[in-house]
Amino acid sequence: MTLRREVRWLGTVSITCALIVGASLAAEPGTTSSFHPGELWPDNKGVHINAHGGGILVQGGTYYWFGEHKIKGPQGNSAMVGVHCYSSRDLYNWADEGIALAVSKDPKSDIVEGSIIERPKVIYNAKTGKFVMWFHLEPRGAGYEGARVGIAASDSVTGPYTFLRSLRTTAGTWPMNFPDVLKSGPLPTVPIPQGSTAWLQANLMGAIVRRDFKDGQMSRDMNLFVDDDGTAYHITASEENGTLHISELSADYLGFSGRWIRAFPGKHNEAPAVFKRGGKYYMITSGCTGWKPNAARSAVADSMLGEWRTLGNPSRGTQAENDTTFESQSTYVLPAPGKPGAFIFMADRWRPNNPVDGRYIWLPVLWEGDRPVLRWMKEWSLADFK
Ligand code: DGJ
Repeated sequence: MTLRREVRWLGTVSITCALIVGASLAAEPGTTSSFHPGELWPDNKGVHINAHGGGILVQGGTYYWFGEHKIKGPQGNSAMVGVHCYSSRDLYNWADEGIALAVSKDPKSDIVEGSIIERPKVIYNAKTGKFVMWFHLEPRGAGYEGARVGIAASDSVTGPYTFLRSLRTTAGTWPMNFPDVLKSGPLPTVPIPQGSTAWLQANLMGAIVRRDFKDGQMSRDMNLFVDDDGTAYHITASEENGTLHISELSADYLGFSGRWIRAFPGKHNEAPAVFKRGGKYYMITSGCTGWKPNAARSAVADSMLGEWRTLGNPSRGTQAENDTTFESQSTYVLPAPGKPGAFIFMADRWRPNNPVDGRYIWLPVLWEGDRPVLRWMKEWSLADFK
């Protein structure tokens, strides 16, 4: 264990050094040299990668993939193990780095075994030297009503991460694009069923924002994005999944700065993934249909804090493929290594009855002018980026 840690440390200081000692898990190029969307993706031990709803952090030329560790059977949709980490130098071959954040056996812990931990994302804070993990957290046994974020941190990229706290988001602060007139007066009711015209009206009127102002806003599907200047943002499905919230994080990435906006009120977006190209910010999201895939959406903005403009469904395939995003749901968009302006769309093909068998759909982001589009590729490699 000590040797492994030491070698990892060496790896961050000098990749060459790690290659010489030959023990850095990530440094070993493997046998695979292309992506095979939807197929089993074996790690260095021959086991299908177990990092669902994941995201990637690049550190010193090594890629670290963090995602939900699933187990067999429907119970596997809950967090029975934790957040899994893998490393790679080429994005095709991945080494198992173990569990970066483990669930707790303590029933009083927010991250007790059987809670829900989804869509973990890790970012590095150069000011504090900490690796910071955010994830969607649902306390055990309460379905998806908790709608919280969990925050954990570590001094080492692969962990172990220490769970710090869980919270609702942006408590006590108004969105920057929330009209004063909606901040007071009679509170519109939020009738069930969700999605009804009355519900939509109340949502547009900011009823849920007001309801949750004091204790914090709901946060389910989430992602993080770090801008070129180091400013980080949390993007999340809030207001009963009706509206996205985009919030600037505090300088230490452990909380919020208080600057945030609502985006696409009442439009029911999930699975947000943000990337930046040519000074513009792009976002791919899904609709809200549980584990069933639906048509992706895309959007563009000049600033993370808006205005966001819809660009439509990015999929370019058969009707069935377009309606289901090639049977997948977005989780992250990764800048392609050594290819400025090129990006990899990462998505999950969920298998809710046996989640450990969930598949990964990685596709190149193609462009129609300034519009990101996706086409099915049975097999492809980074060399396909022109
Ligand atoms: C869709 C979300 O994108 C997933 O992360 C998960 O929360 C499922 N819904 C649960 O039904």
